[in-house]
Amino acid sequence: MTTASRRSKKRRKNRKREVNIRAKCRTDKESQPIISPKVKKYWRQRYSLFSRYDEGIKMDEEGWFSVTPEEIAVRHAQRSVAGGVVVDCFAGMGGNSIQFASLGYHVVAIDIDPGKVKMALDNAKIYGVDNNIDFIVGDFLQLAPFLKGNVAFLSPPWGGPSYKMTENFTLDLLKPVDGYTLFQVAQTITPNIIMFLPRNVDISQVEELSWLSSPPLNVEIEENYVNGFLKGITAYFGNAAYWGVNQETSLHHIHEVLG
Ligand SMILES: C[S@@+](CC[C@H](N)C(=O)[O-])C[C@H]1O[C@@H](n2cnc3c(N)ncnc32)[C@H](O)[C@@H]1O
Repeated sequence: MTTASRRSKKRRKNRKREVNIRAKCRTDKESQPIISPKVKKYWRQRYSLFSRYDEGIKMDEEGWFSVTPEEIAVRHAQRSVAGGVVVDCFAGMGGNSIQFASLGYHVVAIDIDPGKVKMALDNAKIYGVDNNIDFIVGDFLQLAPFLKGNVAFLSPPWGGPSYKMTENFTLDLLKPVDGYTLFQVAQTITPNIIMFLPRNVDISQVEELSWLSSPPLNVEIEENYVNGFLKGITAYFGNAAYWGVNQETSLHHIHEVLG
């Protein structure tokens, strides 16, 4: 082979490599979803929101900052021992519904936004639990009187990421109605209520919710951390609270002992 043909072969090889690199850059860019600056921070945490994110999980902008991190949703489901039927009153992207369904509960998942319900259904399919969930598009406040369930799970809107600016998040800041009204509406379904609330929520107000029932409901409050960061507060009421569960369990045990 002459020097000239060797040079031309090398040039052809280099050109091919350049084309390959350009094609790879294009594919990398294409496979990245379009992320608005508002969502960027949450997108970096995508696997803590949905561990199966890469399998085609769908999210809208509100969904990015309002979905329950998966680890916490698993915890909620594990604590939902009073459940047979769980009503997920504000289902959003399905973060909680999916975990309740994964533990074998039947879930009634409600959201007022049809687009979110469609995404939640698609997300549930990825986790293979869509058959355990009945999705309903509607206003929870209107639907509640017609629903029955063993646990009502409330993850209402906190008013967007600006909730963090408030030092003491009072229950009147919850959407679409204040926390007291919300709790009373949920009680028409069941006294076993689980509420996922901002980390800066006024804890004494949350405890007061148990007094909306007579006799007052058991209540237990827990902090929820992901990777060492406090992400929210969960309040368990009725038999969803440990105290209620223990009491039920021990009563059951007494019946067994007495035959
Ligand atoms: C905090 S997000 C729920 C996030 C959900 N737990 C998840 O993990 O994806 C609150 C949801 O409540 C829905 N919502 C707001 N008002 C509602 C209403 N009156 N009835 C039912 N859903 C409502 C919103 O569309 C939003 O998706």
